[in-house]
This record gives sequence, structure tokens and C-alpha cells, in this order.
Amino acid sequence: MADAPILVTGGAGFIGSNLVDALLARGYAVRVLDNLSTGKRENLPQDPRVELIVGDVADAGCVRRAVQGCRAVVHLAAVASVQASVDDPFGTHQSNLIGTLNLCEAMRKAGVKRVLFASSAAVYGNNGEGQAIDEDTPKAPLTPYAADKLASEHYLDFYRRQHGLEPVVFRFFNIFGPRQDPSSPYSGVISIFTERAQKGLPIAVFGDGEQTRDFLYVADLVEVLMQALEAPEVMEGAVNVGLNQATSLNQLLAAISDVLGGLPEVSYQAARPGDIRHSRANNARLVQRYRLPEPPTCMREGLAKLLGL
Ligand code: NAD
Ligand code: UD1
Repeated sequence: MADAPILVTGGAGFIGSNLVDALLARGYAVRVLDNLSTGKRENLPQDPRVELIVGDVADAGCVRRAVQGCRAVVHLAAVASVQASVDDPFGTHQSNLIGTLNLCEAMRKAGVKRVLFASSAAVYGNNGEGQAIDEDTPKAPLTPYAADKLASEHYLDFYRRQHGLEPVVFRFFNIFGPRQDPSSPYSGVISIFTERAQKGLPIAVFGDGEQTRDFLYVADLVEVLMQALEAPEVMEGAVNVGLNQATSLNQLLAAISDVLGGLPEVSYQAARPGDIRHSRANNARLVQRYRLPEPPTCMREGLAKLLGL
């Protein structure tokens, strides 16, 4: 198993490709399974230790082949946009739940145990809004995206109890950094705002801009994922991944303005239906189990790195 690769589903995407870089830097071989729907070949380095399988996690046969001979799996492949799932619940479900189930089944058959899973703060819906949300907060999936993430967690737990899989479930809050694709209206807000600010294009805020998110720089998340992959044992229970810091969109715009020395025109439009107002992680479990970089990357530093300044 010494040279057995780590399988990263969704490895050609934003978080996945940042993880692939870190894995290679630590000497791992990597296999990526990605359908290149939002991911890009160019996100992956030209390195003989990286194998890219272009395929779909909804295709059971393809997942079986990808899992074969792997040391562990990081399951990131999904339609990452909450709004996209609202527009196309059925299509999203193929990637976001059937994909997870295919992976569980393939791992069981191949005897591969460890799997890290990218769940989401979206599983809490509006519960705990305005407070730091802990993992025991009642779940309230408001969208197909959130329902599929929560159902995936339950399937992973079934395979843990029944078949000895070692799932590590992370509920990511809002991650930002290089390679987050700004090209769709569904893209992560920081990627859209920074790209438009750099190009001098108008910025649209949905709502009054006082909604808050708990933003974490991608390299800090990758640190945590590496530790979870290498931990000798897994601990039960999902783990929130955030900083326990609320940043409003208006504060975010002010920070971008500081870093770039100004902003283009900003307009305020109707809030997105179903948009969560406040989201902030209670990260006590995260800091108990893992070491976040000390100090974690602050917003200004993260923005500067993202903007290449
Ligand atoms: P991304 O869109 O950049 O990455 C997703 C990757 O999965 C892409 O490369 C895409 O091509 C691939 N993919 C999508 N459907 C697939 C399928 N059916 N088969 C194979 N590959 C498929 O988004 P990201 O922000 O890097 O998200 C990675 C994971 O983290 C997702 O599961 C997402 O739901 C989760 N997540 C992200 C955030 C965030 O703030 N970015 C927060 C919470 C959870
Ligand atoms: C994000 C992630 C989702 C994850 C969730 C966890 C993406 C695309 N979405 O969803 O995968 O599960 O965090 O917390 O990575 N906004 C604007 N103008 C824009 C774009 C967005 O005002 O041009 C607003 C939105 O209405 C929202 C906020 O910015 O209020 C954040 O939006 P977005 O980046 O899409 O993230 P989430 O919906 O929180």
C-alpha cells in the first residue's frame, strides 16, 4: 500500500485541487475522479503522481474502478451550488447523493476504509441563526443540496456501523481562496466580488448586505483535511469547519476595497429566496480534534493571497 494513491473525487475543483497540491507536497500519489462539470484539467499540476479519471460519481462502475487499490478517499465531488440544486433537484441528486452511495458501496467491496466527506453548514438551515451553531443543533435542510448532504452523512454512518467504513464528516462553512471559479452567478460570493472588483465591473449584493457568513481560507481547511487523513483513528460525529467569526457582505466589500484601494459600483437587489441570513460555526470540536494554523488566515491576508498581491 506504500504507493497506493489517495482518491480525491472532485479533485479538479476549487477545494479538491488545493488539496491535491498539499497531498503531492507530502509525498502522496493522487487519483482524481472528476466529471469536469465545474472543475478544470488546468487546476491539476502536470505531475506523474497525479492520475485523472474523467468520469461521474453517479456511474457505479466508474466509481468502482476509481476506488480500486486506493489507500483512502476524500469525497468532494458534488454540485456545490445551493441555488443550482433549487433549480435542478433531480440532476443535483445524482451527483450529491447517488454519488456518495456509489462510493460507499465501492469502498465496501474494495476494502478501503477511510473517507473524508465534504458536508455543509447548509444542513442546519436557519436553525441556530445568529448564534455559533454547534454540531448538535437540530438539522433543517431547506434545499435539495442540504437534503442530499444530510442524507449522505446518514449513509456514511450506516456503512460505518454495518461495514466498518471510517468516515470523517466535515460540515464546511464558507470556504474561499484561489481557483474558486467566479464564472457562474452560482459561484461563491468572494470569488465573484473579487473578480468583479478587479475588473471594475458592477457588484450586485442580494439583500441588504448585512447577512453574515463564516469564511475560512482554503489552505487552512486543507491543513485539517490532511490531519484527518493521517490520524490513526477516526472519531465519531460530524465536525464543523469554520472560524466562529461572522463577516457581513458589507464588511467583506469594505475589506476588498481596502485591499484593492477602491470598489466599482455596488447595487443592492432582492435577497435570494431561501438564502440563510446568518451562519457562524461553533468550532469547539474542530479545535479539540485538529490543529488549525495559528493564527488562521485572516480575511485581509486571504484576500491579498487570492488577488495575488
Ligand atoms: P467545485 O465546484 O469547485 O468542486 C466540485 C468538483 O466536483 C468539481 O471539480 C466538479 O467538476 C466535480 N463534480 C461535480 N459533480 C460531479 C460528478 N457527478 N462526478 C464527478 N465529479 C463531479 O466546488 P468546491 O467549492 O471545491 O466544493 C467541493 C465540495 O465541498 C463539494 O462537495 C461542496 O458541496 C462542498 N462544500 C463547499 C463549500 C464552499 O464554501 N466552497 C462549503 C461547504 C461544502
Ligand atoms: C456556500 C457554498 C455551499 C456551502 C455553503 C456552506 C458555494 C457556491 N456555495 O453557500 O457549497 O454548502 O456555503 O455554508 O461555494 N451573494 C451576493 N451576490 C453575489 C453572490 C452571492 O450578494 O453575486 C450573497 C448570497 O445571496 C448569500 C451570500 O452572498 O447571501 C453567500 O452566497 P454564496 O457564496 O453563494 O454561499 P452560500 O449560499 O452561503
